[in-house]
Amino acid sequence: MSVLLTNIGLLATQDPELGELTDAAIVLSDDRTAWIGPSARAPAADEQADLDGRAVLPGFVDSHAHLVFAGDRAAEFAARMAGTRYVAGGIQTTVAATRAASDDVLRANLARLARELLIAGVTTFECKSGYGLDVPQEQRSLRLASEFTPETTFLGAHVVPPDVAREDYLASVCGPMLAACAPHARWIDAFCEDGAFSVDECRLVLQAGLAAGLGARLHANQLGPGPGVGLAVELGAASADHCTYLTSADVDDLATGSTVATLLPLVEFSTRSPYPDARTLLDAGAAVAIATDCNPGSGYSTSMPLAIALAVREMRMTPREAVYAATMGGAAALRRDDIGRIAVGQRADLTVLEAPSYVHLAYRPGVPLIAQVWRSGVRVV
Ligand code: NIG
Ligand code: FE
Repeated sequence: MSVLLTNIGLLATQDPELGELTDAAIVLSDDRTAWIGPSARAPAADEQADLDGRAVLPGFVDSHAHLVFAGDRAAEFAARMAGTRYVAGGIQTTVAATRAASDDVLRANLARLARELLIAGVTTFECKSGYGLDVPQEQRSLRLASEFTPETTFLGAHVVPPDVAREDYLASVCGPMLAACAPHARWIDAFCEDGAFSVDECRLVLQAGLAAGLGARLHANQLGPGPGVGLAVELGAASADHCTYLTSADVDDLATGSTVATLLPLVEFSTRSPYPDARTLLDAGAAVAIATDCNPGSGYSTSMPLAIALAVREMRMTPREAVYAATMGGAAALRRDDIGRIAVGQRADLTVLEAPSYVHLAYRPGVPLIAQVWRSGVRVV
């Protein structure tokens, strides 16, 4: 089956060679992009749709989300807006609700959030465990996550659960819990922060995961400066996530290493924290991604368009840089080369905007501008 999308006002491919095309057309053949060129020279296809001058982007790649949970923490959010600080310990509230929930409840919540992401233009998302915190619960979380995405991440090292001694918990995360979870996970992650895990503990966890064949990523420098980013770069992790508090040494490490700096501005918005310094990272030459970090605690939003608007308004990224970070940046953070840009042979994941340009994503914040979403060559929104 082939589909011709014609009369595209602006095709922002994110492909370094193709760049941005005006008056363009694309042919999707099965799950891939098969042809790109001027509308006037488009070949015939089985089906055809006129996009009437709308802008087309690659589907967004959300490389950081925590979607296996039950309950919400609206009261904690309200207290925070009244002045209470965000702390890692709030995670325990969600752990209790998640453990008590049936598979069906967790699956329905995941399906709801996956649908929200799709409507927001996200065609690939990563999903972490981390609200189970024992062997059967973490394994269950990853089994459920795998029903929705291949980009699953074992985050047993989220916090130490209240009923277990610290050393015993770490030994489990690096031993039996990892063994039970690795078959259902592509990645391993840890929360490197005061109130969660120290840099030495995170090193042990990530090294155990790497030895088990998983790729490494790390929650780093979210609540204050610290050694997390340095560890992520040292281990060649695919991504260091949050990067809210960076020293110039951290920026240098990210600029020289292979680790993507994944920025999560919806978290700064929802925790009323300072935004990360994207401008300095980009100017230094670091690879930058933007992701939602959708979770019930630090930021309960699936809106990649709002993340882009915040990146532009609050983090001094240009609209072009922000869209690149939400597509190619996310793909790099997941070490994927089949998604994140529009080019012949790439997976046919597209977002059609109800706007003539992607600048409108930041220019019209909060407005639902996602008109259509195509995933693997099929229109899904
Ligand atoms: O990415 N930082 C650690 N984990 C999540 C928050 C989890 C929670 O508060 O429930 C995050 O912000
Ligand atoms: Fe997170």
